[in-house]
Amino acid sequence: MGRSVCQRLKQADDFNSSLPFDCKLYKQDITGSMAHAAMLGAQGIITPAERDAILAGLEGILADIDAGALAFDDEAEDIHMFVEAELTARIGDVGKKLHTARSRNDQVAVDIRLYLRDEAAEVTGLLKKLLAAILKQAGQNRQTVLPGYTHLQRAQPVTFAHHLLAYGMMFARDMTRLRDAVARMNVCPLGSCALAGTTYPTNRQMVAEELGFDGITLNSIDGVSDRDFCVELLAAFALIMTHLSRFAEEVVLWSSWEFRFVELDDSFTTGSSIMPQKKNPDMAELVRGKTGRVYGDLMALLTVLKGLPLAYNKDMQEDKEAIFDALETVKQCLGVFAPMLESMKTRPDNMRKAAGEGFINATDLADYLVRRGLPFRDAYKTVGQIVAHCLATGKVLETLPLDEYRRFSPLFEDDLHAAISLDACVNKRTSAGGTAPGSLDPQIAYLQSFL
Ligand code: ARG
Repeated sequence: MGRSVCQRLKQADDFNSSLPFDCKLYKQDITGSMAHAAMLGAQGIITPAERDAILAGLEGILADIDAGALAFDDEAEDIHMFVEAELTARIGDVGKKLHTARSRNDQVAVDIRLYLRDEAAEVTGLLKKLLAAILKQAGQNRQTVLPGYTHLQRAQPVTFAHHLLAYGMMFARDMTRLRDAVARMNVCPLGSCALAGTTYPTNRQMVAEELGFDGITLNSIDGVSDRDFCVELLAAFALIMTHLSRFAEEVVLWSSWEFRFVELDDSFTTGSSIMPQKKNPDMAELVRGKTGRVYGDLMALLTVLKGLPLAYNKDMQEDKEAIFDALETVKQCLGVFAPMLESMKTRPDNMRKAAGEGFINATDLADYLVRRGLPFRDAYKTVGQIVAHCLATGKVLETLPLDEYRRFSPLFEDDLHAAISLDACVNKRTSAGGTAPGSLDPQIAYLQSFL
């Protein structure tokens, strides 16, 4: 009987414990505690000697965990309890004074903010590397013409540089999104205590400054119950994954035999165990596949928060695994995507061939007639008839002879073929943001400002 009660308690304790995953926060937890202890000392809430003992004890714990000399025992409920218990074991009763004018509720809120601030900087660094790889490939492919698609139907010719820079813009936006989220997040909740503030003469500004925050949270109830910053960052991660996943899908298509636009380096593909000809784009597929996990993490956190009354509720402990999983996934995916892109070989001849075989210059043919005075809608109709004629006779616009063109309109002259060549189609699109080489320069300069 007694034994089974014991077992049940163990099960409940394990269920309740966050130490197996929040041990990741040990550095932030100790850093936050040190700032708190320094403030308690400065305010005369503990004596200078007590403060020094606590600071030395915390430093020792941090050094030992860093060195692998101190293991997280599974007796503690979470990282906060673990550090405090270890401190008291090391320096005696004075360790019990650390938790004066504080609660685990504001402690965990500060720990996650410190952690996410660093991690957001790391993700930004990885985005920079990806952007650098995009810019490098773009620089090498300013003249590489391929079909631009809408509805995955060949639409108009573009350069591969232009196409890649479109992804560059997405990742640049991702960087600004992280920056915005961090700016909003970077206020210190420590000193909110359990929820109502404290009767001790604390100095919250001092703690905030010590920890590199821009200010303090202004409402103690909000300070301990807000997890908006986690949601915002998870949403930013989800969008990064959306962008990576679209890019990954294109890499999968481009490296297929049907397209053959690019060839991935062997380190980013795998062979098949039974089909010797195969070179599978597994890394790109995994990036596409892992996108779902990050969406799931975002949805999980939103769902955890939606029905919570103020202020802290234990449900909020569920924030951590969602955040950690999303972070890990995003970092892995960015980490593999940048070198995959950088080492990817392009096949400009195949891209050009794909652009040349259809009627991708039909818009330009219509524009030719417009330049000679025909209203666009009439030009559009005439070109439609020419395309139908080509399809019926197995011809293409580039090689259809002038006399056949003139059957549809007397406006066609012998400069026609030059006007609808692929290079002309690309080079003439000089509008801001367009695909002409001159229009790419400002796009490249803008993205370079992020590096
Ligand atoms: N492990 C908890 C969490 O991650 C820490 C805060 C616990 N606070 C409390 N009053 N039980 O949310």
